[in-house]
Amino acid sequence: MSFEQMWRELAPIGRSSTTGGYFRQPFGSAERECHAWFVEQCAARGLEVEQDGNGNTVGWWRGGSTGSTRGAVVTGSHLDSVVDGGAYDGPLGVVSALAAVDLLRERGFVPEAPIGIACFVEEEGSRFGIACLGSRLLTGTLPPAQARELRDPDGTYLLDAMTAAGVEPDLGRSALLDEPGCFVELHVEQGRDLVHRDAAVGVASGIWPHGRYRFDVTGQANHAGTTRMEDRHDPMLTYAMTVLAANKQARLSGQRATFGRVDVRPNGTNAVPSAVTAWLDARADSEEHLEAMLADVQRLAEERAGRDGTRVEVTAESVSPAVRFDADVARRVSVLGPGEGWPVIPTMAGHDAGILSTAGLPTAMVFVRNPTGISHSPEEHAELADCLVGVEVLADALQEVAGEISPGSASADETTSGGGRE
Ligand code: GLV
Ligand code: MN
Ligand code: MN
Repeated sequence: MSFEQMWRELAPIGRSSTTGGYFRQPFGSAERECHAWFVEQCAARGLEVEQDGNGNTVGWWRGGSTGSTRGAVVTGSHLDSVVDGGAYDGPLGVVSALAAVDLLRERGFVPEAPIGIACFVEEEGSRFGIACLGSRLLTGTLPPAQARELRDPDGTYLLDAMTAAGVEPDLGRSALLDEPGCFVELHVEQGRDLVHRDAAVGVASGIWPHGRYRFDVTGQANHAGTTRMEDRHDPMLTYAMTVLAANKQARLSGQRATFGRVDVRPNGTNAVPSAVTAWLDARADSEEHLEAMLADVQRLAEERAGRDGTRVEVTAESVSPAVRFDADVARRVSVLGPGEGWPVIPTMAGHDAGILSTAGLPTAMVFVRNPTGISHSPEEHAELADCLVGVEVLADALQEVAGEISPGSASADETTSGGGRE
């Protein structure tokens, strides 16, 4: 099945008829439908599907790898989305991985190392709050005890959501990636660097450090009409001033700060609220700058709370250190490009590739040009022609790092006998 056909099949799943955006909430019906689709696609290609107790899945092309001492080469991405997100963030990496395996087989390539296509669960943290939950659990970066306490906004525990979705939970470090030697994730670019460089594809150098911080602001609920302005303890006011302070601090220091989610209690039009909980997404070009910006925002929020007669508590929910992707793998992928090679660019977006890299796995990322740079929005886009270049580059990269079984060796005829693929 071609890239275009696969893309068409996924397109209606979880799409809002009003905004055109996607909501594929981890372990929810749309994401599970995408997941079932992925498993079917793997089966159609004769890939051996394995799942761990965290909900991560890999389809293996073992090729001629029996007995190989080369570490597995894993590609893939995620199928969950942010709330009202785009079609590409996540699925492009998964569909491109399937298409790249098809292309490698068409080329007659038989990998020496096993090639795996991974789907990591809850990459966006849109349901349980922690970004890259699946890869953090798999690598042991997040203690299972902490994950067991996670609840979604409706109060459903992670374990219950998994069980309801038919996934038997066994949280924690897993061997799903099978002695991995390398991970390569393809992703839509979330910016316009490649547009400016006039390149369809780029290679990532690293990821800015970033984190999610919950601000719990508490005050006193009261009547919106009868409470004099000077008698209020209004957490909304503290929150509003904190949003402005975060924006100003980020602008002054050349970093990024966003409050994109807020929860107000009791959320009535004619009542001063009792409490506001809001989440700051902060990103910076170094860990020192990230910490300094967060400290400034927290100090300004607390000063404001002092004036409003409210209280602020800040909790770090999910923090990711700076990532420097493996320079050797990045170079090997970059030189596959025309002229001076595919450009090597940094990103401010988090990815499972970052978690795996931090855990010590040589990791690379391939970005596909996004004409507007818009992402985490229904307007996210990539042109088909660029996506197809992405598939070629991913196939080249896998070929480069997975090695090749020489023709005539015991299992080299695998490409012609393998698994009834479409
Ligand atoms: C992941 O998409 C992120 O929030 O950077
Ligand atoms: Mn994303
Ligand atoms: Mn993503």
